[in-house]
Amino acid sequence: MSIKTEYLKLFVNATEKAAYGASKFIGKNDKIAADQAAVDNMRNEFNKIDMDGKIVIGEGEMDEAPMLFVGEKVGTKKGQKLDLAVDPLEGTNFVAKNLPNSFSVLAASEQNNLFFAPDTYMEKIAIGSNLPKNLVDLDNTVEKNISLLADAKNTSPDKITVCILDRPRHHETISSLKKMNVNLKLISDGDVLGIIYIVDQNSPVDMYMGIGGGPEGVLAAAALSCYGGQIQTRLVLDKEESVRAKKMGISHLKRKYNIDDMIKGDVMFCATAITDGDLADGIKDKKEFYEASTIALHKSGKVNTLFKNKHKK
Ligand code: FBP
Repeated sequence: MSIKTEYLKLFVNATEKAAYGASKFIGKNDKIAADQAAVDNMRNEFNKIDMDGKIVIGEGEMDEAPMLFVGEKVGTKKGQKLDLAVDPLEGTNFVAKNLPNSFSVLAASEQNNLFFAPDTYMEKIAIGSNLPKNLVDLDNTVEKNISLLADAKNTSPDKITVCILDRPRHHETISSLKKMNVNLKLISDGDVLGIIYIVDQNSPVDMYMGIGGGPEGVLAAAALSCYGGQIQTRLVLDKEESVRAKKMGISHLKRKYNIDDMIKGDVMFCATAITDGDLADGIKDKKEFYEASTIALHKSGKVNTLFKNKHKK
């Protein structure tokens, strides 16, 4: 079974409406209002779609998020049974501060085919397509992973570029990379895009590594699964989060997840730019309409398109 192709346009519409909602708060230094606008619009669009949808990665647990919470049912309940991972506003700081690379993002699979990652941190290592399966591993040293990738690409470490979140927790990793003369792409936020760089033809990024959000890890894995890239992840849990993860049915807390453990079967992925970005133009608000640019992927349909749509206001 696969996801019916007609859903892709409907999902593109949902991230575009969400992106438009958030765009009204660009540069307003109010990330909560921007996020809320994106959530409201995405949920509104979801509920018009003929699907029996369930949010499996969302804005939090039922008691902490009024909308698009984990477990919330969306859609008219008439169509296909689908699981949805959403991040209506990925890069809240980017919108608040009017910086590039904010997106509205979602991924959809058939029922029970997305990893139900809790909203905790996650270790991630990702590489692009056409490389040996399971080439790199979270348990290897940074040096080993870089050497393995450089060898597989028939190049040297100084020609490899690694994207990583610029955070104090990554100081050791960054200093190992510097010692190897690896090129760095340090990002201040937004590691869904940080991972997508590795499969984008125009971005000279070869590997993503480091700790970021768990939900973002699943969304990035969905995109990579369409592009044929690879990712390995492991949850980073404190005591309280370990209890929560166990309640969610995760028994082996230190397990490493490869891409096929996170994304099973068919998957769709949509990302609409809010502010201008490296991969797509942000929302262009004109008098009577607005323009939106969306990266839309469908694994089984082999769709990889940059949509540019106009919407009446
Ligand atoms: P928000 O859009 O929810 O603010 O998340 C942005 C983000 O940079 C993610 O892309 C990333 O996975 C996570 O935050 C990293 O978390 P932290 O800022 O705590 O290091």
